[in-house]
Amino acid sequence: MRAVDIIAAKRDGTELASDDIEALIEQFVDGTVTDYQMSAFAMAVLLNGMSSIETAALTRGMLYGSVRLQFDAHGPVIDKHSTGGVGDKVSLVLAPLLASAGAAVPMISGRGLGLTGGTLDKLESITGFNASLSVEQMHNCIASCGCFISGATPNIAPADHQLYLLRDATATVPSVPLITASILSKKLVEGLDHLVLDVKCGTGAHCKTLSEARLLAQSLVDTAAELGLPCNAVISNMDHPLGTTIGNSLEVLEALDVLKGKTSCNVRELVLQLAQSVNEAIQFTTTSFPQLLDEGRALDCFKKLVKQQDGVLEDIQVAEATTIHATTNGYVSGIDANRIARVIPAIGGARATAEDKIDHQVGIRLLANVGDSVENGQPIARLHIHEADEASVKLINMVRTAFTIEPSPLDQQPPLVFETVRPT
Ligand code: URA
Repeated sequence: MRAVDIIAAKRDGTELASDDIEALIEQFVDGTVTDYQMSAFAMAVLLNGMSSIETAALTRGMLYGSVRLQFDAHGPVIDKHSTGGVGDKVSLVLAPLLASAGAAVPMISGRGLGLTGGTLDKLESITGFNASLSVEQMHNCIASCGCFISGATPNIAPADHQLYLLRDATATVPSVPLITASILSKKLVEGLDHLVLDVKCGTGAHCKTLSEARLLAQSLVDTAAELGLPCNAVISNMDHPLGTTIGNSLEVLEALDVLKGKTSCNVRELVLQLAQSVNEAIQFTTTSFPQLLDEGRALDCFKKLVKQQDGVLEDIQVAEATTIHATTNGYVSGIDANRIARVIPAIGGARATAEDKIDHQVGIRLLANVGDSVENGQPIARLHIHEADEASVKLINMVRTAFTIEPSPLDQQPPLVFETVRPT
């Protein structure tokens, strides 16, 4: 079938043959299908959706032209992927934790664009950190410390790289089959034994409702299973920021606190739930994950990872802080993750476009969290910025009004995890 006929068929709601979908992607990578044809195809998919068979074919097609990584590891090869949240520093703790339990964790990660932060941006707050490893360096890291966290090389899933640029510019990002194929094409080349997904749900996430998150999570785990990659997903709450910090350097410092163990916070809790969900699926260790954190073994692994990727951990800088106070007595019933996230690009801590430079030292520290009681005048947050000026008054107000303070306490704490999703 010609490209134009495939696009027309999808436009008219016809289910496509797998061979046609795969051929279309191959010709796109080879340059015979043009960007405007692929953009039209993406829009037709966004509007008419895809069956599970079509989604699997699209994902398979997007492996075309990609290198396949294969790690010579003693333990299982595991990775985690998050659909993106506010204050989400889970990967920084989970990768070394799984590695310290005997897994190999080749974590190919991304940069932040828009409201959600990127793991690589956070790690680049560490002086010298190399987030662009070659395939050879990736192998060296796995051999020496069992994990790495790095960006995709140009020859990892090139179809996704080309298509994502078009989707970003043609308003075709929010489509379940396109997101499924995009995420899984990058994960399927890592030679994994298991993938765990953290699908975020709430005001600070792509999926605003539980039904949207369920649809995406089920599409991801079912497509992964269809293509031979064992996978489970956890749907976690993103109505409020995760942990107490938002911003690159601040989040690395908070991740280090969790790696030092003996703390209880929702970052640690989510990390442990994700690690546990992997172990329930593939039973690769009998060592207790809380113990690996509390005994500093995950921390040792993280230090080795940073060293192996040329980073110097001692010198993580944070900008000066302006304190923000409560203006009433009561109980914090919510901290709007979306509102908090919108402050970060405004202070230079996140990109509006892929070319923007970011300031790693700026961010927000929450001093009160959901469920806490607060008094009028009490410090509830700190805004870390280089120079407080007139514009920062508006931002300070945005942070303050992200807090909902009510006269009576919450009946119960909002859930951290809504549910686990397994292949059907
Ligand atoms: N993350 C990805 O890698 N791809 C998408 O399409 C959306 C989020």
